[in-house]
Amino acid sequence: MICLGIETSCDETALALWRQGRIVDAVLASQADLHAIFGGVVPEMASREHLRFIGPLFDELLARNDLAPQAIDLIAVTRGPGLLGSLLVGAAFAKALALALNIPIIGVNHLHAHLLACGLKNEIPFPCLGLVVSGGHTELYRMQSPREMIRLGRTLDDAAGEVFDKFGQAVGLPYPAGRMLDELGREASHADQPLPRPYLDNDNLDFSFSGLKTAAIARARALGLLCGANRAALAPLARSLNEAAAHALCAKVERALARNADLRGLCLAGGVAANSFIRQTLQDAMRARRLPFLAPDIPLCADNAAMIAHAGALLAQAGLRHGLEFEAIPRGRPIPDDAVCQRGFA
Ligand code: KG4
Ligand code: ZN
Repeated sequence: MICLGIETSCDETALALWRQGRIVDAVLASQADLHAIFGGVVPEMASREHLRFIGPLFDELLARNDLAPQAIDLIAVTRGPGLLGSLLVGAAFAKALALALNIPIIGVNHLHAHLLACGLKNEIPFPCLGLVVSGGHTELYRMQSPREMIRLGRTLDDAAGEVFDKFGQAVGLPYPAGRMLDELGREASHADQPLPRPYLDNDNLDFSFSGLKTAAIARARALGLLCGANRAALAPLARSLNEAAAHALCAKVERALARNADLRGLCLAGGVAANSFIRQTLQDAMRARRLPFLAPDIPLCADNAAMIAHAGALLAQAGLRHGLEFEAIPRGRPIPDDAVCQRGFA
């Protein structure tokens, strides 16, 4: 079975080919440089760029693999959460292809796909805990199966990635600043004074990161680092920020595992899962519990279509399909579990 994955939920137009459990090839057009000019993603520009790139990327992917469109057996497309205009470009392209080729289509939850990408290299030990950390989301899941993911907690305000991006903007780093702040933190010989580990003194599995963002920016102001600090001056504070974010995430992971003794491991995914402090802290915590820690390779942490193709293929193998009427769902609205069961693919 060959599955074409399509991802257009934010500012990356991405397509990938999945064949018998492996990613064969992938193409991607990033709009990061364009949106960096504005310090964040401009939704209308993102939709237009997806529209411009999606056709040529599809042609390139097929030509590169010497495939005719008729060789594709299944289309998997991100249906949400994301920017509605961006999602609609991918969904319309995917539906048109499915109709023209008379092949099945499956709409994929972008956050579930991030987590399922952990299974591209190693088998996911269901049931396990899933932590998605990205620029728009910070959520904890009980991963029961590829289809059944039960949300245990979420951020009440900023996502972990927003803390990095907005702090970065305040100190004059280009958007998105997460990777650079990770590198700066690694360069530091010591950490600045500890920043608060927010929202731990409670009894739930939710997160809150706005207090950490405010505290980090206030500390930068006190140190005279706002707008254009040099690397060496910024590095200790970057390290404190990385450490605080990692510990805040780890505390809720520990709490979720303590409350759910049947969970057999941890999947960490999303753009911020590339963060070396967060990876190390969570890996150490799982080692202490003698449970497996799974995270995608760094390039597969950020938005990509390989994870969409993989998640879609898993759902199709479980017999699930969508009709062409399925909706794209913007961020903030729950994604319905409305795929229908219809056996067919082995
Ligand atoms: O999953 P993703 O590619 O897009 C969203 O769906 O949001 O995540 C992008 C986020 C940005 O906030 C970016 O700053 C952050 O991931 N990021 C990092 C690192 N690499 C990317 N944050 C911290 N450390 C990193 N190494
Ligand atoms: Zn994402």
